Amino acid sequence: MKKTEKILVTGGAGYIGSHTVIELIEQGYTPVILDNFSNAHPSVIPLMEAIAGEPILMVQGDCNDSELLRNLFSEHDFSGVIHFAAFKAVGESVANPLKYYQNNLFSLIQLLRVMEEFKVTKLVFSSSCTVYGTPVGATKVDEQTQLGVPNSPYGWTKLMCEQILRDAVIANPKLQVIFLRYFNPIGAHPSGKIGEFPQGVPNNILPYMTQTASGILPQLTVYGNDYPTPDGTCIRDYIHVCDLADAHICALDYLSVPRELAVFNIGTGTGVSVLELIAAFEQATGKPLNWKFGPRRVGDVVKIYADAQSAAEKMNWKATRTVNDAVRDAWKWEQNRLANENRN
Ligand code: WQD
Repeated sequence: MKKTEKILVTGGAGYIGSHTVIELIEQGYTPVILDNFSNAHPSVIPLMEAIAGEPILMVQGDCNDSELLRNLFSEHDFSGVIHFAAFKAVGESVANPLKYYQNNLFSLIQLLRVMEEFKVTKLVFSSSCTVYGTPVGATKVDEQTQLGVPNSPYGWTKLMCEQILRDAVIANPKLQVIFLRYFNPIGAHPSGKIGEFPQGVPNNILPYMTQTASGILPQLTVYGNDYPTPDGTCIRDYIHVCDLADAHICALDYLSVPRELAVFNIGTGTGVSVLELIAAFEQATGKPLNWKFGPRRVGDVVKIYADAQSAAEKMNWKATRTVNDAVRDAWKWEQNRLANENRN
């Protein structure tokens, strides 16, 4: 599917969505963004257009609005959809589960209904390694690993959305779906123009680190140093957001011929501890990071990283960027963002 192929990107102004939209354009697709800016800043659109070197079609709105969706599908002949739009703050989902179940499940259901009405059959779904819960046994998980008990209502919404999609495909075999199970996305576009900019105080570690290094936040707390790992801190599979963006284009290409429902882990295949990530970040910034150890965070998985062999074999995708690339790009983005804020 190429240039004349229009792709609806829900949540396309968000962290992963914005990077994927840039990659879609570079690979010859025509993305159309639908975003309600509940976790994104409108200012990201002109920055994306500066990177892409062309205007980007964008509609402000919500996937729960079926009339808006129908108007959008009437106006554009979409070849496929990449569905990012969802709430994703683990902690907030614990405090406000109904908001998460209502939004994350209902928006997918609305989207599927309109896709069926307009006979759009290709969907790439943004899923998460959180569906594995705390992996039983091996912590390098492949797609056949038994699904676990997600550690938050957010995680449950991802697992439930996967089930909704499995049942939708059984009911309508023309529907072609791919689940991309992300591990830990970090980093920013190498231009430094776009990156991760969560609303409020960051939940995830890397934006917390960059905002600590830039002085916005006073100190990073490392949640726990007594885990059964080599240095006592949790281990994750941190993947550069641009590698993650590439995976979505590979998924669309994979759907250029009829396919069964497919699931792919999208990670580097390497586990990195919190202390190793801090060391990489300090090397990238050239200065020590202000951090301390604190108590464990409830719900944290000790160790999980991807076996991404299936994506390599079937989609011809693998991560090409390192954690060092990611922390360097994240720091460049943070510095650019602050410089722009100070100018305005
Ligand atoms: C990573 C490590 C923390 C913050 C979550 C979601 C997952 C996905 C990615 C959406 C852990 C430690 C963190 C801090 C810390 N999201 N940490 N101090 O929890 O692995 O995954 O985000 O798809 O679904 O569950 O990511 O960045 O919050 O934590 O020590 O201030 O960093 O304990 O070991 P997590 P994270």
